[in-house]
Amino acid sequence: MTALTLSTAAASGLRADAIVVGVAKGAKGPVVAPGAEAVDKAYDGKLADILQTLGASGAEGEVTKLPAPSGFKAPVVVAVGLGAVPADDETYGAEELRRAAGAVARALAGTKKAAFALPLTDAADAGAVAEGALLGAYSFDAYKENGQSAKGNGKAPLAEVALLGGKPRDKAYKAAIERAVAVSEELNRARDLINTPPNDLNPEAFAAVAQAAAKEHGIKVEVLDEKALTKGGFGGILGVGVGSEAPPRLVKLSYSSSKANKHLAFVGKGITYDSGGISLKPAGHNETMKCDMSGAAAVFAAVVAAARLGLEVNVTGWLALAENMPSGSATRPGDVLRMYSGKTVEVLNTDAEGRLVLADALWKASEEKPDAIVDVATLTGAMVLALGNRTFGVMANDDAFRAAIVDAAEEVGEESWPMPLPEHLRKGMDSPTADIANMGERMGGGLVAGLFLREFVGEGITWAHLDIAGPAFNEAGPFGYTPKGGTGSAVRTLVRLAELTAQGELG
Ligand code: BES
Ligand code: MN
Ligand code: ZN
Repeated sequence: MTALTLSTAAASGLRADAIVVGVAKGAKGPVVAPGAEAVDKAYDGKLADILQTLGASGAEGEVTKLPAPSGFKAPVVVAVGLGAVPADDETYGAEELRRAAGAVARALAGTKKAAFALPLTDAADAGAVAEGALLGAYSFDAYKENGQSAKGNGKAPLAEVALLGGKPRDKAYKAAIERAVAVSEELNRARDLINTPPNDLNPEAFAAVAQAAAKEHGIKVEVLDEKALTKGGFGGILGVGVGSEAPPRLVKLSYSSSKANKHLAFVGKGITYDSGGISLKPAGHNETMKCDMSGAAAVFAAVVAAARLGLEVNVTGWLALAENMPSGSATRPGDVLRMYSGKTVEVLNTDAEGRLVLADALWKASEEKPDAIVDVATLTGAMVLALGNRTFGVMANDDAFRAAIVDAAEEVGEESWPMPLPEHLRKGMDSPTADIANMGERMGGGLVAGLFLREFVGEGITWAHLDIAGPAFNEAGPFGYTPKGGTGSAVRTLVRLAELTAQGELG
């Protein structure tokens, strides 16, 4: 991954391939952002005029390249748009900085080293720029010949970033960079897992990756294979996985801190491929369904990040892994599954499989009586219709907890929205045969799924459900620090929840 350092060097003397400056959108044209004073001076204070001549406005994500002033070691200056100039008494927000850093890191693919002279007011800003750069420079090349980048233009990702104006010896700055590096590396690893084609990442392969990472970071790991799942009575996970040649797994990752007072459990939907099963998805709806393990990838990344950061909280991650395939052995619409909780479920639609694997993992997670459970899942198309491609829905059995999650997400630059669990929708899942059906009313399908999950949360346990079906996988073009393909949605929110819990500010 891209290497990142804090530097006190002056922009002019720095050996780099590019110097990055910020430009904002002012009322009368582009405005050079703080942090680039020395660069502007080297252009005789005319950088804003030059940028305007080149057609730059300072709009968010805009990238303008110009020759560096004479005397500079670096050959080019790259101006990245920050959006509107902040109000008089305000500075650039962390998310604005993160997005600008991401956009310019993407534009600098093919460049070896860049120095970022962006406006930093404190350590948190440095962390945001670092995160944006590391996440923006991501590319998934594992399946390209000659290591070509995902864009197919043969450009390797930006290799090295020096942040100017940071304080390399300041504790807070160092901690912010360390955090940004740990979170970004693990988030990028989640993206890799999501982008890996489903013929290579089946439940067994995913479990092996989790096992290796756990070993590396001192996390306890247990893998229940199909035999253990059968013995344990995990009818939901088995019922979803039984149609596939690749058997299911339930992975438990336990990070514990000797200084912990609280215990959080994260549960992730890990369908390595969702064909829909016997209720097969039509063409046009299955091409990106390798992304259906994004919840498990997010949980995995968050637990490893928590361990790397040594957070003073116990975090258990549960990865409910299965491949949903149609075959002669697959679960039929009409079959009844006996779940790990003991409840029976009539499977009316085998494409509503996520809730089945999650139900078993939620009940298992509940047995440890954690202070709170948060599940993450690409659960419903209905949530995508409701909230679009960039926002995840948050449901919970506790209003304050749901609000705290929405706030935590906003803090780290993830868009989310609180969603209700309307009681009247529960009866739509009544089954004449079993305790509950895996489908209910079509309207409000995302909320129906949430109500189904709620039935499998242990009595008295605070629980929230993040439906990331919209933002998990970006089928459109890249933007800010978000690439095409797997995005790593919810990783930063989960890490933030673990931090807040460690600080006693949650639960
Ligand atoms: N994995 C899908 C949901 C999904 C849709 C994720 C679009 C990402 C993008 C899930 O398993 C599913 O198929 N849900 C069904 C449920 C329905 C059959 C009750 C859906 O949303 O259509
Ligand atoms: Mn499905
Ligand atoms: Zn699914």
